[in-house]
Order: sequence, then C-alpha cells, then structure tokens
Amino acid sequence: MDFIAFHLIFYLFFIPPLISGADTLVVNQSLSGNQTLISLAGNFEMGFFKPGKLPNYYIGIWYKNIKTLTVVWVANRETPIHDRFSSKLKVQDGNLVLVNESNTPVWSTNLITTDKHASVVLLDDGNLVLRYESSSSPPIWQSFDHPTHTFLPGNKLGYNKHTNTTQVMTSWRSREDPGVGLFSFEIVQQEKKYVLKWNRSVEYWSSGSWNGEFFSLIPEMRVPYVFSFNYIDNANESYFTYSFNDPSIISRLVIDVSGQIQQLTWMENSQEWYLFWSRPQKVCDVYAKCGTFSICNEQILPSCNCLIGFEPASWRDWNLSEFSGGCVRKTELKCRIKEENPGFITSYVPVNFLPTFYENKTLSLDESACRRSCLDDCSCDGYSFIDKTCRLWKSENLNSISLVFVSNDFNVEKFELNVKVASKDLQHPIKNTRYKKNDKVNLGVVIGSVIGVVLVLALALFIIYRKKRLVVGKTKMEGSLVAFVYRDLQRATKNFSEKLGSGGFGSVFKGVLHDSSIVAVKKLESVSQGEKQFRSEVSTIGTTQHVNLVRLRGFCAQGSSKLLVYDYMPNGSLDFHLFHKGLDSVLNWKTRYEIAVGIARGLVYLHEKCRDCIIHCDIKPENILLDADFCPKVADFGLAKLVGRDFSRVLTTMRGTRGYLAPEWLSGVPITAKADVFSYGMMLFELVHGKRNSEQFQGSVFTFFPSLAANVVMGGGDILSLLDSRLNREASVEEVTKVCKVAYWCIQDEEHDRPSMSQVEHILEGVVEVKMPPIPQSVKFFIDDDMEDVPFFAASSSIFNESSSTGSSQVHTSSLSGD
Ligand SMILES: *[C@@H]1O[C@H](CO)[C@@H](O)[C@H](O)[C@H]1NC(C)=O
Ligand SMILES: *[C@@H]1O[C@H](CO)[C@@H](O)[C@H](O)[C@H]1NC(C)=O
Ligand SMILES: *[C@@H]1O[C@H](CO)[C@@H](O)[C@H](O)[C@H]1NC(C)=O
Ligand SMILES: *[C@@H]1O[C@H](CO)[C@@H](O)[C@H](O)[C@H]1NC(C)=O
Ligand SMILES: *[C@@H]1O[C@H](CO)[C@@H](O)[C@H](O)[C@H]1NC(C)=O
Ligand SMILES: *[C@@H]1O[C@H](CO)[C@@H](O)[C@H](O)[C@H]1NC(C)=O
Ligand SMILES: *[C@@H]1O[C@H](CO)[C@@H](O)[C@H](O)[C@H]1NC(C)=O
Ligand SMILES: *[C@@H]1O[C@H](CO)[C@@H](O)[C@H](O)[C@H]1NC(C)=O
Repeated sequence: MDFIAFHLIFYLFFIPPLISGADTLVVNQSLSGNQTLISLAGNFEMGFFKPGKLPNYYIGIWYKNIKTLTVVWVANRETPIHDRFSSKLKVQDGNLVLVNESNTPVWSTNLITTDKHASVVLLDDGNLVLRYESSSSPPIWQSFDHPTHTFLPGNKLGYNKHTNTTQVMTSWRSREDPGVGLFSFEIVQQEKKYVLKWNRSVEYWSSGSWNGEFFSLIPEMRVPYVFSFNYIDNANESYFTYSFNDPSIISRLVIDVSGQIQQLTWMENSQEWYLFWSRPQKVCDVYAKCGTFSICNEQILPSCNCLIGFEPASWRDWNLSEFSGGCVRKTELKCRIKEENPGFITSYVPVNFLPTFYENKTLSLDESACRRSCLDDCSCDGYSFIDKTCRLWKSENLNSISLVFVSNDFNVEKFELNVKVASKDLQHPIKNTRYKKNDKVNLGVVIGSVIGVVLVLALALFIIYRKKRLVVGKTKMEGSLVAFVYRDLQRATKNFSEKLGSGGFGSVFKGVLHDSSIVAVKKLESVSQGEKQFRSEVSTIGTTQHVNLVRLRGFCAQGSSKLLVYDYMPNGSLDFHLFHKGLDSVLNWKTRYEIAVGIARGLVYLHEKCRDCIIHCDIKPENILLDADFCPKVADFGLAKLVGRDFSRVLTTMRGTRGYLAPEWLSGVPITAKADVFSYGMMLFELVHGKRNSEQFQGSVFTFFPSLAANVVMGGGDILSLLDSRLNREASVEEVTKVCKVAYWCIQDEEHDRPSMSQVEHILEGVVEVKMPPIPQSVKFFIDDDMEDVPFFAASSSIFNESSSTGSSQVHTSSLSGD
C-alpha cells in the first residue's frame, strides 16, 4: 500500500502543470475544466465547450478572437461529458485521450503504438497535431485529417490511396448537438468531384468534376480576387484545398445543419459571420430537408412548415432548426372507427416534386370516388385527382421528401394533393394564410388577376391621387411623418391579411387608410433599437425624399412592434416585370432606359445629396418599385442602419448568391457607396437582357450574361442581339451600348475603378460620353482566352472619353495588362 501511495505522490508531483495559454500538451499533462490551449499567434483555442442548454460538454477548437463562439472541430462528437472539471483530456500512451468523470476513456486518437513520448500542439491554422519525439517530427495524427463539419483554409479534404479512406465532413445533428447529423460532404475520388449526401446514401448536390481550374458546376470559382484553389491527385492521395490570398481574411466552409455547404466570412465591423456562398442554392433542394408532411418554402424563415393539421414530430428539434424529423398529424387517425370521419386538406405541390403514388387508376367518375377510395384505405395518406386519374399516396412512399413549394417560381406547374387529417383538425379555421389556395396555385390565373387588379388599382389610385391633390393640396407638411397607432394599422391592413411580399427586413402588407389612400405597411423584424433611437432613424428616412425614392408616410413604434408605412406602388417591383414570363405587357426599351436613369438619380440623392449619406446595401430588382407611370422608386433604403447589427443576418437571407454583391462584401472591409454602384451595374445587365445574370450551365453552355455580353460589347458586335428577345430588337443601338458600357464600369473589381452614381447619371443623361470599359476580372475569367488577344481590348483607363467635357471627376483604373 505504502509503495503505491508513494508512487502516486511521486507521479503526481512530476506531472508538469499545464501553463494556461500554452499551445502544447505533453505526456501526462492534462487539460480540464476551463483550461485551454491557445495557438502561438492566438488564432485558435481548444478546450471544453457546451453548445446548448443541456449539461453536455465537448472538446472543441474555436476562434480565439471571435466573441460568438464558433467551433471548427469537435473531438467527442458522440460522447459528451457532463462535468468538465473532473474530466480530462490528456496525452497518454502515445495517444490523445479524453477520460470522463469516472476516468473511463470516452474518446481517443486510437493509435496503436508503443511510443510514449507524444505531444500535442494546437497550430495557428486551427490544426491540432500529435507528434512523437521532437516537435519537428512529422505528425502522426492531426485534426485536419479528421474534419468534423468545418473545412478551414489550408486544410485538405480528400482520399488517402494507401489506407483507402475518404475524409467525410458531416453536419451537426442540430445547432446544439455536434453529433453526426444526416448531411455529409465528401469526395468522389474517381470523378474528382465533391458531393453532398443525405444519410451517406442519397446524393443531392454535386460540384461537378475538377477540370484543372475549377469544379465544372461551380464556375464562380474562377472569380480570382480572393481565393486560391488547388486539386492534387498523386500516388498517395487525391484532395482539394483552398486558401485566401489575403491571410487576414477569416473564413470557413461548413456543412450546415440545414444541409447546405456554406462559405462564411467574419465581418469585423459588424462582428458577425456573413454567408458568402452556399450550395444547393435553394435550401429546399436539400434532400428530405423538412421531413414528412411538411412544406419547404425558400421565401420564409424558417423554411420548413408543417402542412395544416400537422405539427412537428419534435418541437425541440424544430426550434433548433433541425427539421428532418418532419411532421405528424395533430390528431392521430383512428381509421377503423367510422364515426371519426377524417377529411382532407388541399396542398399544392410543384409537379417536379411529385411524391410517389402507390396506386394510379383511371376513374370515369368524379373526384368523390377517388376520395372515397382513399378514405376506405387506412394506409392512404392522401390523393390527387387530375384528368380523371385518381392517385393514392402513402407517406412512407414519400419517404420524408419534403413537399417543396417555391412561391416565386412562376413557371412551375403545380397540382393539388389532398392530405388526410382527422375531422377534429379540419374544424379549426385555417390560421396560416400562407397555405391558402389562391396564394400558390394556378399561376396563369394569379398573373391574370394580378394584372387585372393592378389596372383597376392604378385607375383607382390615379383618381384618388387627383382627388387628394385637389383636397389636401399644400396643407401636408414636407417631411412630416405620421405616428400611427398599431390598432389602426391592424385595421387598415385587415389584420395583416394581404401580404405584398417579404424581404430581409420583414413582411409587407397592403392597407387602406381612413382617407382611402392605399399604403404598404412593413412589419420590421428584429429591430434592436430602443424607441427613441428608432424614432430618430425613422425621421431621417422620412426627410429623405426624392421622386425616385419610395416615400415613407409614417411609422408605428409600440413596444416590440415596429412598422413603417410607405406609399403603395401599384406596379409592384421591377423583378416581376423583368423576369416573369407570361406577362402580356413587356417593359419597352424606352421605359427601361428611364428606369435606369431614375434609379441612378435616386441613388445619387441617397449617396450625395441628402443630409446623412445613405448606402443602400441591397440594390436589386426586388427593391425597385414602380409607380403607376412606371417611374422607378428605390425602396428599403436606410433600413440597414435601423436594423443595426442584424444587417448581416439580413444579407444572409440572400442565401449566398454572388448576384448583386460587390466582392468587398467578402473581405469584410467597410462597405462604401461603391458597393451600391456594383449592384446597380449588375441590375443594368438584367434590364438589358430581361433575365437574371445567373451563373449556370445550360447543357454545356455557361450562361453568365456579363461574360457572354463582353464579347459583343467590347468586340463591337451586334449589340441588339443582347437585348431581351421579347423586345424584338426594338431599341436604340446607342442607348443599349451606353447602358452596357456603364454596367461594365460599375462592376469593376476595385472600388476606385467604379464610377460614382452621379457620374453614371451624367452618362445616361447624355451629358458626357462613356469610354470602353476594361473587362472586370470576375467577368473576364469566363471569356474565351483568345478574346484577350483582340486589340480592341486595350481598354480605357478612365470611364469618360478624352473628348468629354467633365473636368473634375476622372476615374483612374489599373490597366488590363499584367494578368
Ligand atoms: C506518464 O505516466 C505514466 C503512468 O501513467 C508513467 O509510467 C510515465 O513514466 C509518465 N511519463 C512521463 C514522461 O512522465
Ligand atoms: C476557472 O475555474 C476556476 C475554478 O472553478 C475558477 O475559479 C476560475 O475563475 C475560472 N477561470 C475562468 C477564466 O473562468
Ligand atoms: C463514463 O463513461 C463510461 C463509458 O461510456 C460510462 O459507463 C460511465 O457512466 C461514464 N461516467 C459518468 C460519470 O458519466
Ligand atoms: C486499397 O485499394 C487498392 C485498389 O482498390 C488495393 O490494391 C489496396 O490493397 C487497398 N489498400 C488497403 C489498405 O485496403
Ligand atoms: C439512414 O440509413 C440507415 C442505414 O444505412 C438507416 O438504418 C437509417 O434509418 C437511415 N436514417 C433515416 C433517418 O432514414
Ligand atoms: C508518397 O508517399 C511516400 C512515402 O509515404 C513519399 O516518399 C512520396 O514522396 C509521396 N509521393 C508524393 C507524390 O507525394
Ligand atoms: C418551440 O418554440 C415555440 C415557439 O417559439 C414555443 O412555443 C415552444 O415552447 C418551443 N418548444 C420547445 C420544446 O422548445
Ligand atoms: C402514378 O403516376 C405518377 C405520375 O404520373 C408516376 O410517377 C407513378 O410512378 C405512378 N405510380 C404507379 C404505381 O403507377
């Protein structure tokens, strides 16, 4: 006994104590409680963390300098410990081992070794490395070889040809549980591509094969300004790796619990993670994202909602954004008991997301026979009766594929699916207007009636306007805002029943005020400010008045309810007119040109003329509203400041399309008005082309309009061939050329190469001429290489022609050569 006691004391005595803030753990040293390892330069920290409310602790690595705990690696994903002070992470017998409260190993690096002289060091790139012997010997084990859900710059993710093992990244089970979730990101080594899979089996997204430069289905990887990419395939291994040209950028690639792969960048000035890129682009394209009996809708947060009559199988998971458990009936069906009398609720499902039907039969009878056969079959969960075909549906056949509903996809044909619910759940009034029939169906009818309504409204509004002008005349004070009472707005909007749309800041509802003027009421979400500050911000917005800005009429700030009341714009938003097929009236070129000029004037006012310069930050066709005369009005300005730090969360809802965002959004530098100029330029292309500038392949052809158009614009080709085909080449060659050139100037990679909005305005107004723009890197990389030899490409270094008469504002650009 004495001997053992002595030995124990001796042993304890000689354990080198862990120096707080050290980056290394050596033999017999241990880490416990709130002790941490910190990498040499202080980039990363490792220790115990608790991700949720449960008393579950995990060993993790996180960013040391980021206040929002952001874990990049977890050791014991499946085996949490509960008392971090009596659990230990230690280097023992050549392994890194985590022992729990009862000194039982719950996690280990599991190396078979006799080597006792191991040490573990946390490096500044976030890698945890286990070495034997000296600190210069090669790693025996490293966390980078065992990624969890994060792929850090400098790491590699791939396949080891010696051990035939694939590195797999897996999502967390929920935001509060780092356990292995259903979604994974892994390499398909033979094809040199990466895929996203559900439950390690169903592939729902692919990067396309590496073609030496980029993954074929991620053409935006060619955008050169921030990343370096590399794919290595040698005798030992096959992997992809990426890094940043600017090492100060903090960025990570994660497989999120949503099933998306996301690139997030830390924004130093707003202190938040900003989603720069994600795939699949549509969250609803994630396989089985919402589970059974649910609807996935891109447009709202959360995207998953249960069908009427159903509720989440687990509220807890649902509240943690873990939706794959799906929904269950509120009231279980007792099929055999006849008097239960189940009924049906109709949902609308796009045809490309048809569930599998277990039986199809042609009935010459009416729908009631189909309904009857579903009622008679206890295992039938729903039916669809179209064209005399009765289709019966069972949820296990659906196998937890969400019913996907994308409200803004006007080209998708939808059909009715009638889902069986208990009679009790039928009686409840349908509270959620989101699922109302006319919200989401027969788009021809919707568009038709929208146009009808718009015309009638336009007329009504015109009359009201005229009347108001006569009656109210000049009594209304400039810049005065009405402070509305919540109840009045509730009444005006019929309890917020008629939704006009929803954006990052909240939903917009139509309302009619006492004086019968029509307004758009925006219900702001997540306003962090107090009432006083809110009022002062609102009054700033209120005094920002211009013919090309949507006018704020008033506001309401009662408790947590913050609402803004705007003029109603009868012609809706620009995206509707540009992108929705099947509209009878197409905006003609003259109108488009005037819209371009109008938006420019609105932005000039915001950037330069009003008292507090306002950067809009979210210029896109959805935020350009059109009045009865198609005069453009910029909407949503000033809200970035109002919503404060939440703004990057708002941007996040844009779901990572490069779309309208200037490259500087990625690097986390402060945003200037030139970011709006970039977005404006992207929008100009869409005005010309009548389609989104989306980066996609159609067959083998890559369609990114600014790239395709560069050949024509710079090469002096047939400019009208770029025009929206619905315009039948009816446009001024000179104007289209001018708009295209301005657009290229606006989307220059470097902020200082882009013109100011007043320069843009002057060009479009014909006051000054515009020179041939250089091709921005982001666009050039999509162009055939031989194009660069065209001498015409020796583009100007300044936006204005030498002949132009503007003395003052010359823009200097870097020359095109040297790359
Ligand atoms: C570590 O502890 C073991 C007993 O668990 C002991 O045999 C060994 O000598 C110790 N190693 C060092 C370097 O202190
Ligand atoms: C770490 O834990 C000890 C013991 O519970 C406590 O006294 C100390 O304040 C903690 N240190 C920090 C930095 O939280
Ligand atoms: C430690 O882990 C072992 C094995 O998983 C387990 O049986 C034991 O209950 C754990 N101890 C505590 C205190 O949780
Ligand atoms: C890995 O796969 C190759 C070819 O399929 C095979 O020759 C080799 O023996 C495998 N190695 C291991 C360690 O399984
Ligand atoms: C995932 O696949 C396994 C078999 O590979 C299966 O047992 C399990 O039920 C699946 N999970 C879900 C949620 O379907
Ligand atoms: C492959 O690994 C061996 C030893 O494991 C090494 O000698 C060789 O250089 C490696 N080959 C490449 C291409 O890295
Ligand atoms: C989930 O969220 C809803 C609404 O926020 C709340 O009413 C409910 O209590 C939450 N449930 C759980 C289990 O967290
Ligand atoms: C029923 O019809 C649907 C849609 O046409 C089809 O996808 C499905 O395979 C059919 N099912 C059976 C059992 O024939």
